[in-house]
Amino acid sequence: MSYQENATDLGDGEVAALLFEYMPKIAAEHKTDSLLMLMADLGRQIVRADRCSLWLIDEERNELWTKVAHGVSELRIPLSAGFVGYSLKTGKPVLVEDAYRDSRFDRRSDIKSGYHTTSVMTMPLESDDRVMGVFQAINKIGDNVFFSKKDLERLKLISVYSAKTIESAIRAQKLESYAKQLERKAEELESAHMELIRILGEVSEFRSQEVGDHIHRVSEISRMIARYYGLSAEQQKLIYYASLLHDLGKVGIPDTVLKKGGRLTDSEYAQMKSHSIIGRTLLRDSKTDLLCMAADIAGAHHERWDGLGYPDKLKGENIPLAARICAVADVLDALSSPRCYKPAWAEKLVKDEILKSRGTHFQPELVDILIDHWDEFYSCYRPDGEFIKKGLLPPVK
Ligand code: C2E
Ligand code: SIN
Ligand code: SIN
Ligand code: FE
Ligand code: FE
Repeated sequence: MSYQENATDLGDGEVAALLFEYMPKIAAEHKTDSLLMLMADLGRQIVRADRCSLWLIDEERNELWTKVAHGVSELRIPLSAGFVGYSLKTGKPVLVEDAYRDSRFDRRSDIKSGYHTTSVMTMPLESDDRVMGVFQAINKIGDNVFFSKKDLERLKLISVYSAKTIESAIRAQKLESYAKQLERKAEELESAHMELIRILGEVSEFRSQEVGDHIHRVSEISRMIARYYGLSAEQQKLIYYASLLHDLGKVGIPDTVLKKGGRLTDSEYAQMKSHSIIGRTLLRDSKTDLLCMAADIAGAHHERWDGLGYPDKLKGENIPLAARICAVADVLDALSSPRCYKPAWAEKLVKDEILKSRGTHFQPELVDILIDHWDEFYSCYRPDGEFIKKGLLPPVK
């Protein structure tokens, strides 16, 4: 439909056809300035004007602004300028035949642009009882020299449509930027949370003087097991961070027991075992998924699959999965590293011990994962292992 060649006004059918042509384009457009141009283009064809602009209020700058098709940037005028300002202030439309014979006309834009305005229509853009801007049409084209009452009605029609569309585009844009802001805040909060957990884990490790990064290895191994077990990336991350706190309860164990070189007496061992309950108690009232899992792990990482562990003699799947996973990682690391009470075990002995614990100490499937990927799990204890490369672990024979 080429309006330039058609000298007469559009019939209602043609107006409807134009509306149907534009509707999908407008519905698909979410940027406010592109919408302004689409609407202006639609308006220009429907009322057969040489120019159309949608002016919107910029509340921060107390100005009206619009976007023009080939303009480099937007145009801005004072809120009170000319016919547009009149419609904005009064909420009434304007229909004039010769702008230069109307006192409301602001000649400055003609002077600036070298354009000559004659006939003008303006229509307030209303949404929710508020005037948010003005739809303006300038200079009738075709056989008719002036805009008619019918043109004004048509301008009203597309103004209602435009106001609703722009309003929802603006709302969507605001929501989107608010959502982005929220997301950033949540990320900040999460990383602060994780950081605190890491520090807390390191505090408990420092206190028990475990050699070289026990908690980080246990966390990494727990995450690897969780991955092979088929848990989601989110669960893997939770298990990693929650495992950092598995021995948090050791902060409550006296040094004489914690740092004793050699075997513990029965009563010392009983005291030592209370670290599970201490850890769980410290984390018990937490509300986040992460700290709830940390409480599960701290409380149940010394439970055994066969029900002979501590503190609650939980059996099988009654032991929280994260604790079952961390238990395997904890023992793998305890056996493979030197402790104040024992040297590191040789690789073959570690592997045999883990295999022997299949279905007794540990859930069988978790032992299978370790054995199936043994090199990957054990590599961090070899002299060229990844953890050692990172400088986190002294070499172990
Ligand atoms: P940990 O050193 O982090 O050891 C974690 C778990 O790894 C132990 O839980 C045990 O299940 C396993 N594990 C560690 N070393 C050995 C070992 O030589 N042989 C076997 N079969 N398993 C081993 P457990 O027994 O509940 O011990 C909890 C914590 O109590 C240990 O954490 C450690 O801090 C302390 N502890 C345990 N036994 C002794 C000991 O004989 N002397 C001293 N000083 N501390 C001990
Ligand atoms: C699973 O998540 O695969 C099992 C859950 C459970 O046994 O606790
Ligand atoms: C131990 O308490 O030292 C033995 C744990 C296990 O069953 O491996
Ligand atoms: Fe422990
Ligand atoms: Fe441990």
